[in-house]
Amino acid sequence: MSLADKQLLVTGASGNLGRAVVAGLRRLGAKRVIAATRTPGKRQELAALGVEVREADFDRPETLQAAFRGVERLLLISTDSLHAPDMRIKQHRAAIQAAVVAGVEHIVYTSLPNAHPTEGPSIPDDHFWTEVALFESGLNWTILRNNLYAEVILRLAQFALKTGKLVSATQSQGRSYVTREDCARTAAAALLNSTGKAIYDVTGPASVTHEQIASVLSRLSGKSIQHLNVTPDEVEKGLVAAGISQFAARSVRELDEETSRGYQAIVTPTVTNLTGRVPMSVEDFLQRIAPALMG
Ligand SMILES: NC(=O)c1ccc[n+]([C@@H]2O[C@H](COP(=O)([O-])OP(=O)(O)OC[C@H]3O[C@@H](n4cnc5c(N)ncnc54)[C@H](OP(=O)(O)O)[C@@H]3O)[C@@H](O)[C@H]2O)c1
Repeated sequence: MSLADKQLLVTGASGNLGRAVVAGLRRLGAKRVIAATRTPGKRQELAALGVEVREADFDRPETLQAAFRGVERLLLISTDSLHAPDMRIKQHRAAIQAAVVAGVEHIVYTSLPNAHPTEGPSIPDDHFWTEVALFESGLNWTILRNNLYAEVILRLAQFALKTGKLVSATQSQGRSYVTREDCARTAAAALLNSTGKAIYDVTGPASVTHEQIASVLSRLSGKSIQHLNVTPDEVEKGLVAAGISQFAARSVRELDEETSRGYQAIVTPTVTNLTGRVPMSVEDFLQRIAPALMG
């Protein structure tokens, strides 16, 4: 039996990434795809893709045995539960444990570059301990350390278009942004083809600084936009003042600090190697969404 004939399951299938992965799997010809989600209200949209839809909620482990029954290869999409400390680690551990019990052979997981333990709760800490749970699971796994989505530039860009300032604490170091669509195509390919145990950094085609982003935005908008380097404290305080939650603001600060230390500048050929297509550049991405952004 080829891997493409195996029973595949995507968790978080109604999220932005999950939906794109399920659609990508269907495009690639996968026949036995299960879309697992907490949100039954969105089931019809998933069912329209020609896949089986099951309920799976990591906060309710009792849903997971039925959800994972018969599954051979599983894409575990990290959740967005950033509001409560350590919640994601608990959720991801529940999913991995249920996969082991259900006899899943291979888990593909969406992680973050330089996942590492930290003293308090943080995004890299969540991903580090989830990776550890995978290492200890006895299963095969593929860890996709997705760099920041190019889409995360959007909010910053909207602010920059209003004020002329693109603010960060990245200290002019680069980040290898990758579009969500490229992450989705890579995850679909890994779920279909990856074997054994592997960790991949999933990146765009180049490391891009905020100066370069400011320059593209200036060209596209006809306005003068400059990158303003501020301290990590200023980033966090500015976001809290703008109404962002404390944890989310601290997370942005920490991601900027990671960038300033060079941890998000690695460029790899993972997207091309796994999907056969070169990932989209930040410039092409911004150009593509420019009408909506400027509007
Ligand atoms: N690399 C980056 O720049 C970046 C940026 C943002 C987020 N992320 C991470 O990548 C993930 C996917 O991105 P996205 O854009 O698709 O995010 P999204 O649209 O916000 O989707 C959130 C995802 O979390 C899942 N989820 C939440 N609570 C869950 C639970 N209790 N049990 C199972 N699944 C749960 C949702 O699944 P259902 O609603 O279908 O149940 C959905 O797939 C995010 O959840 C986050 O961990 C990465």
